[in-house]
Amino acid sequence: MSTPAPRDFRPALHYTPQSGWINDPNGLVYAKGQYHLFAQYYHEPVWGPMHWAHAVSRDLLHWEHLPIALAPDDLGAVFSGSAVFDQNNTSGLGREGQAPLVALYTSHGDFEQQSLAYSLDGVHFEKYSGNPVIPNQERADFRDPKVFWNPVKSCWSLVLAAGDHVEFFASPDLLHWTKTGRFGPQGNYSEGVWECPDLFPLAAPDGREVWVLLLSNGGCEANHGSRTQYFTGSFNGETFTADGRFTQPEFIDSGYDNYAGVTFFGPERRLLVGWAANWVYAAQTPTGVYCNQMTLPRALTLADTPKGGLRLACAPVEGGAFGPAVEAGPLPGEVFHLRFSGQGAGSLCLRNERGEELAFGVDERNQAFVDRSRAGLRDFDENFARDWYSRMEAPRLYDGPWTLDLYFDHSICELFLDQGTRAFTFTVYPSAPYTVAAP
Ligand code: FRU
Repeated sequence: MSTPAPRDFRPALHYTPQSGWINDPNGLVYAKGQYHLFAQYYHEPVWGPMHWAHAVSRDLLHWEHLPIALAPDDLGAVFSGSAVFDQNNTSGLGREGQAPLVALYTSHGDFEQQSLAYSLDGVHFEKYSGNPVIPNQERADFRDPKVFWNPVKSCWSLVLAAGDHVEFFASPDLLHWTKTGRFGPQGNYSEGVWECPDLFPLAAPDGREVWVLLLSNGGCEANHGSRTQYFTGSFNGETFTADGRFTQPEFIDSGYDNYAGVTFFGPERRLLVGWAANWVYAAQTPTGVYCNQMTLPRALTLADTPKGGLRLACAPVEGGAFGPAVEAGPLPGEVFHLRFSGQGAGSLCLRNERGEELAFGVDERNQAFVDRSRAGLRDFDENFARDWYSRMEAPRLYDGPWTLDLYFDHSICELFLDQGTRAFTFTVYPSAPYTVAAP
């Protein structure tokens, strides 16, 4: 059970449940001018039989809570999945003039099977009478379907995690699915069960289309618990092939609190939301009635970096809500955007009246780093207090001058540099607000 909150750590511009627990973002879909965000949810601030919580937003920063969308049934708990807006009613689940929102999720019972639910009003969901739509009575790990429109074959496709690899399925109508291929374990494989895959195309700076496969891996000690890895390559409409450029796992974030991230179906930009927590210590965080938050939505692009070639880059959707960027000096409160530039080694600390400090910057080896070892409360969990969850670092993919952009929201921080080719997402629990930023 999460520790009682010593003070209010609830972020203002990051999605949190009103009370209870959340993990993975689910069913991210844009429909009729609204962004829908669903989340793995349980009504106590601990993980339990999973439901889908539901919220909508027009600006991706302010979320309106809606009723719980999906609850456990005879097939099991409602694990992670995705949603699409079936505009042409390929599923036949719509009615005249009302295209359905269709969600594909994992029913987690004795086995993991894929099920479907749909909604005509975008609020109330009906489970499909023919569930499961992808049965499984054999394998232990078979979950987290991510549906997308397959532009190669002009049909629906989905990718799901099956232990140490992912599998692809195709369907004309979202109801009947045929397996088309698999990827993994191969290349820069890291130990552990793969979860929450996503596959999508992005345009490289030279105009080439590159497919990106995201994978989350919660159980790999060497990766520090929960990390989200990506591969770049191609998709022939049936399966993904990696281009083999990476010799070790390449992560979308160098911080330890960005997991299970997947992208929206629908909007023009490719927008990712991650779970801003880490399975290793998430349940112990001192936030009281609610437990965990999502990252800010982030626009994903590809950048050609001088030292690392083509890399995933991200930029937060912040819409000016954090106020104009402030520089070193007094801090304007507990929600701000701080910008800090330099050349060579340089760092900054956020400090409070209790002598706590959060340090970040670039070191002598041209590595960006964050050090939260003295940033505030940390003894709520022995892992959170360990060195390797305290200091985060990543080599820059550029030389020369740098600019760090820190988005601070009470207890969740997102730091970006070098066109977003490096990002650090991490939580901090200062026992009093930070009041000043100084070297
Ligand atoms: C990832 C995950 C998923 C699963 C869900 C259960 O964090 O383990 O694989 O569907 O959480 O809550």
